[in-house]
Amino acid sequence: MRHTAYVFDAYGTLFDVHAAVRKYADKVGPDAQRLSDVWRQKQLEYSWVRALMGRYRDFWDLTQESLDTAFALVPSADKSLKSDLLNAYWTLDCYQEVPEVLTRLKQNGARLAILSNGSPTMLEAAAEAAGLSDLFDEIFSVDMLKTFKTDPKVYDMVTTHFRIYPDAVSFQSSNRWDIAGATAFGFRTVWMNRAGMPDEYPDLAPAAVLKDLTGLPGLG
Ligand code: LAC
Repeated sequence: MRHTAYVFDAYGTLFDVHAAVRKYADKVGPDAQRLSDVWRQKQLEYSWVRALMGRYRDFWDLTQESLDTAFALVPSADKSLKSDLLNAYWTLDCYQEVPEVLTRLKQNGARLAILSNGSPTMLEAAAEAAGLSDLFDEIFSVDMLKTFKTDPKVYDMVTTHFRIYPDAVSFQSSNRWDIAGATAFGFRTVWMNRAGMPDEYPDLAPAAVLKDLTGLPGLG
């Protein structure tokens, strides 16, 4: 085992944030992907702005507010789907390779954790729905700190709790900005570039870039 702990971002990395809109894509109509993209982007924007202001509201609040904004920006989408989409967010699909990769890491003796902006109840529900709950040693939510990534205090929760140095943590995220924050903190970072995005934050480069979790070092 090269790393003591394997820590995963939740949304976009383990759980597919676009699965909620996809589930109702026919009803949402031709702008379904745009609705989902704006929803996600606004949800993240609110987290960064609120962290900077010191005006925390939990991620479930931001998820609801950002969906309202997405409906306002994508008028073709039927607003009466709001409660269906929000309900679907509690049971997002996990990516196909996730259960097997986590199981193998666990069998190899790694400690596994989630580190996410999500509220504790959102994260527990998503892990439960995906059948992953038993694999995690810890689910770390920013809610303990009332701030969001990329505040270094968020990444520090892991090292403080496990009593390990940052470089003993392999941190996986599909969000390049999250990889930048985790790299700045000192984690060994692996960017899951699921969407084939261009690289960013050149001074805060990941140790590795993968398309999904299957090539993760340490799987043995
Ligand atoms: C998370 C979001 C940022 O799970 O994807 O922390």
